[in-house]
Amino acid sequence: MKNHNTEVTTDIQKSLSTFLANKQYSKIAILVDENTEEHCLPKLIDCLPDHYLITIRSGEENKNLSTCEDIWMALTEAGFDRKGLMINLGGGVIGDMGGFVASTYKRGFEFLNIPTTLLSQVDASVGGKLGIDFHGFKNHIGIFNEPQNVLIYTGFYQTLPQEEIRSGFGEVIKHGLIYDAAYWEQVKTINPYDQDWTDIVAHSIAIKKKVVTDDPFESGLRKILNYGHTIGHAIESYFLEIPGQRLLHGEAIALGMICEAFLSHKFTGLSSQALEEITNYLIHVYNPVKIDPQLFEVILGLTLQDKKNEGGVVQFSLLKEIGTCAINIPIGIPDMIDSMFYLNEKIG
Ligand SMILES: NC(=O)c1ccc[n+]([C@@H]2O[C@H](COP(=O)([O-])OP(=O)(O)OC[C@H]3O[C@@H](n4cnc5c(N)ncnc54)[C@H](O)[C@@H]3O)[C@@H](O)[C@H]2O)c1
Ligand SMILES: [Zn+2]
Repeated sequence: MKNHNTEVTTDIQKSLSTFLANKQYSKIAILVDENTEEHCLPKLIDCLPDHYLITIRSGEENKNLSTCEDIWMALTEAGFDRKGLMINLGGGVIGDMGGFVASTYKRGFEFLNIPTTLLSQVDASVGGKLGIDFHGFKNHIGIFNEPQNVLIYTGFYQTLPQEEIRSGFGEVIKHGLIYDAAYWEQVKTINPYDQDWTDIVAHSIAIKKKVVTDDPFESGLRKILNYGHTIGHAIESYFLEIPGQRLLHGEAIALGMICEAFLSHKFTGLSSQALEEITNYLIHVYNPVKIDPQLFEVILGLTLQDKKNEGGVVQFSLLKEIGTCAINIPIGIPDMIDSMFYLNEKIG
């Protein structure tokens, strides 16, 4: 896999200028949604060369083929050739879809990612997964490809809603739990709503990069990144359809991490003390509400749909201790149900 640079910067204008300085692009497109156009583009505007601005509607519901068509059409009408550059300025939706569009337009041209949410900086910016949702199936159509470069600037968070911060913070917490016990100790001391994020984000990116580089196509180690995501995704998918009860990704993953800590205690040796510590912390940060036990089976049935399953058995990534994660642990529905009862009991 091509190796690109990720630059964590405190001066985004300078970093962008430096990136563009020695390049000869035929044309430059900037992809934004209405929020990043309003809040993030002004932070770059003084250093932008001539460009075509392509604005799409924000939200996961627009991460689909029809929006891709609009973007491909805008590129076509502007006369983009393979020597162009696309700058993806936005959260994970912009990054995943913009990268996919750039990688497929005329068999691909270069793109630069400037992620603007905590989630997209610590997670989506690393690993080369690009794509879109398709008829309700998340990330169903896509490819692996790397951007030319990724510029990380935490100053974008100034305008990010608090729940988006909380959502991205879930991945930061996960990085400590699966890979780095000392980092977990540090993360626990953070106030996510008043934080200089630069060092934290750089550390999380380094962890994800290490994991992904050692296993680019998800055959082994990379699966540790799925911790909290098997049950978390099922919870996220279920509540996606329920008006007013929608959970952000990181909020659902936090619940998944509690359930999967319970399973880790039962199956992979996580101590009861560590289980308590993880559970109490996540409940403190996310302040979740109980899930109606009548929904457990329906929700957990969704784990069978996970792209990562092999042979109809749900495989979990579970903690052996804080900072160490085991992969490919098969778990049946009854144990998953127990873990959700545990979650409710702890929510109290
Ligand atoms: N490729 C990967 O490895 C990977 C990893 C994790 C998530 N993802 C994908 O990322 C997406 C979620 O990413 P996300 O949480 O960034 O969602 P998002 O792109 O929808 O952004 C969240 C919201 O914040 C707004 N926004 C973005 N930056 C802002 C800023 N600085 N100030 C104010 N508002 C801002 C956006 O307009 C949007 O409304 C999902 O589609 C998910 O599948 C991909
Ligand atoms: Zn995630």
